[in-house]
Amino acid sequence: MSVERKEFGTMPDGRTVYRYILSNSSENEVHILTLGATLHSFIVDDKNGNKTDVLLGFDTVEDYLEKSDYQGATVGPVCNRIGNAAFSIDGVEYKLTANEKDVTCLHSGGEYSFVVWNAMVIDSDTVEFSYISPDGLNGFPGTINNSVTFKFTEENKLVIKYSAVSDKDTFINLTNHAYFNLNGFDSGDILSHSIMIDADKVTAVDTMSIPTGENFSVDGTVFDFRQPKLIGKDIDADNEQLGFTGGFDHNFCINNWDKTLRKCITAESDVSGLKLNVYTDLPGVQFYAGNFLKGICGKEQKPMNKRSGFCLETQYYPDTPNKSEFPSCFCKAGEEFVSQTVYEITLAE
Ligand code: BGC
Repeated sequence: MSVERKEFGTMPDGRTVYRYILSNSSENEVHILTLGATLHSFIVDDKNGNKTDVLLGFDTVEDYLEKSDYQGATVGPVCNRIGNAAFSIDGVEYKLTANEKDVTCLHSGGEYSFVVWNAMVIDSDTVEFSYISPDGLNGFPGTINNSVTFKFTEENKLVIKYSAVSDKDTFINLTNHAYFNLNGFDSGDILSHSIMIDADKVTAVDTMSIPTGENFSVDGTVFDFRQPKLIGKDIDADNEQLGFTGGFDHNFCINNWDKTLRKCITAESDVSGLKLNVYTDLPGVQFYAGNFLKGICGKEQKPMNKRSGFCLETQYYPDTPNKSEFPSCFCKAGEEFVSQTVYEITLAE
């Protein structure tokens, strides 16, 4: 294993953004940027031995700052949506930035994804990124000491460990927003990828994509991915939930959640022969099929069209701070939030 640091670009205020490259002995690589602790590239051999970068992203700092749909970014302190951009702790209401339609708070207003994180090489296979978010940032209580470590292995496993400690009671729900295309970032849509998600239930949302509080059974619905199914098979089916979100963009409640790290999702493409296995210790995953991508140019000026990448954002359920019936992501002052997600890429058998 080896780690290398290269300059990636410059922030508007002149600070340098670095790219850390973790490589294994098969010359497969993971690239992470200090900007947003962003997973920039995941490069592996496909079934024909061609090096394939399976992540959507951009080539410049300017593009990340101006055009991003959170490609590869670390998101926090609370990812996904919070209804009415507010929550309460001990009877005190906290008003958050309403960055979506002036009503809801999406990805906490985005700061974590677009600031420069400090980086420290821990080992030849591990880099740690850290960021202290100030009390009151976008309305969230607590000065929060965040760290995300990325470890890459000889088996093409990318192990992501999240840690956060706040000096005030708060909510923490960190995730990564990588968009995968197992045929390569420049290879069209992901509709012919198959995916399997170990989830009997999915979180119902309203027209603003805010959970209603109900988790419905996937039995007999287009949301049943318990056996591998092509993403494109039902994505445009006449279904109220899909209509609200323009395609799959829902939280899947992972079966038998017990806070241990478990493999719960696999995705596969026949074209490249690549398979993605996702392990997490979290209770949910937002399966987002890239429905809102609009053809903005990314890496090598290739357009990222609608559904050219899919995200598997492991997390506590959306709007958890306002839903006492969901597993809680409440974090007491001084207590450490920890969680782990692994993205592993193998050749399909
Ligand atoms: C959401 C999508 C949103 C995307 C980019 C995902 O987490 O589920 O609705 O378009 O983030 O912000």
